[in-house]
Amino acid sequence: MAGRLEGKVAVVTGAAQGIGLAIATRYAAEGATVVLSDLDADRAQAAAAAIGPGATAVGCDVTDEGQVASLIAGVVEGHGGLDVAVANAGVAVVAPAVGQSLADWRKVIAVNLDGVFLTLTHAAGAMAASGGGSLVTIASVTAQAGSPLIASYAAAKAGAVNLTKTIAVEMRDHGVRANAICPGFIDTELVKPHKQTFADALGLQAMGIPDFDAFIAMKQGRYGTEEEVAALATFLASDRSGFCTAGEYNLDGGLRASLL
Ligand SMILES: NC(=O)c1ccc[n+]([C@@H]2O[C@H](COP(=O)([O-])OP(=O)(O)OC[C@H]3O[C@@H](n4cnc5c(N)ncnc54)[C@H](O)[C@@H]3O)[C@@H](O)[C@H]2O)c1
Repeated sequence: MAGRLEGKVAVVTGAAQGIGLAIATRYAAEGATVVLSDLDADRAQAAAAAIGPGATAVGCDVTDEGQVASLIAGVVEGHGGLDVAVANAGVAVVAPAVGQSLADWRKVIAVNLDGVFLTLTHAAGAMAASGGGSLVTIASVTAQAGSPLIASYAAAKAGAVNLTKTIAVEMRDHGVRANAICPGFIDTELVKPHKQTFADALGLQAMGIPDFDAFIAMKQGRYGTEEEVAALATFLASDRSGFCTAGEYNLDGGLRASLL
């Protein structure tokens, strides 16, 4: 059976590990030619080699416009076009907003908002030149509510969702679709180092909740998996989602919908 992304050329930022790697792996399995890009070029290279012949890697810091422009131009030149771009690269600083340094704030905004702006706009331009394509932003449910300890992260994600919708509307007549995925908590390297900080700040032990994993089980049933995000990112990249644009898709086990 033909894959759902057969013949498509895709680029994924932050693809050396975690959610980005799962998306790149799934895209390749669905028949796409995939370019894994990451700040960590060596790790991206190793990941592409593990995926196989349909995958290659390019080092790229999404905060640097020159690097993003050459990433996109290189994909178009090397593969004859660009059909799918996933703005996935992300970082987090976990600390209260009050008292946080401007440098820490800007570090997160630079990757999670400026980086999305650069990825989406450069990719959209290339797609429009060749008849269209699909942009997928990996945002977060934190875009939709106050999020203690991750103010810069949540603000950047809210901006990224809004930017994705704006680009979707601006580019509709050029055949370019754009959608945002808003995952709840996925147990990746982005989350693991901060579990104790969250548990302490939320006072979980005093409430009889043993740790952050138990809290997540209460709020969203379990952690989501990278592969579950990749499954939705595959649908949004594929022609099956042809009428889906400017959407914001939660994938969070009910976290965002629940008051209690
Ligand atoms: N893990 C979660 O719970 C969760 C939930 C919602 C959304 N997300 C989002 O999913 C995306 C992937 O997160 P993850 O959990 O896989 O994290 P991760 O830390 O495992 O992976 C992030 C990747 O981004 C790369 N990266 C960081 N800065 C970069 C830069 N300037 N340029 C290029 N690459 C850069 C890192 O090298 C790394 O490979 C992020 O945007 C994150 O905000 C994660």
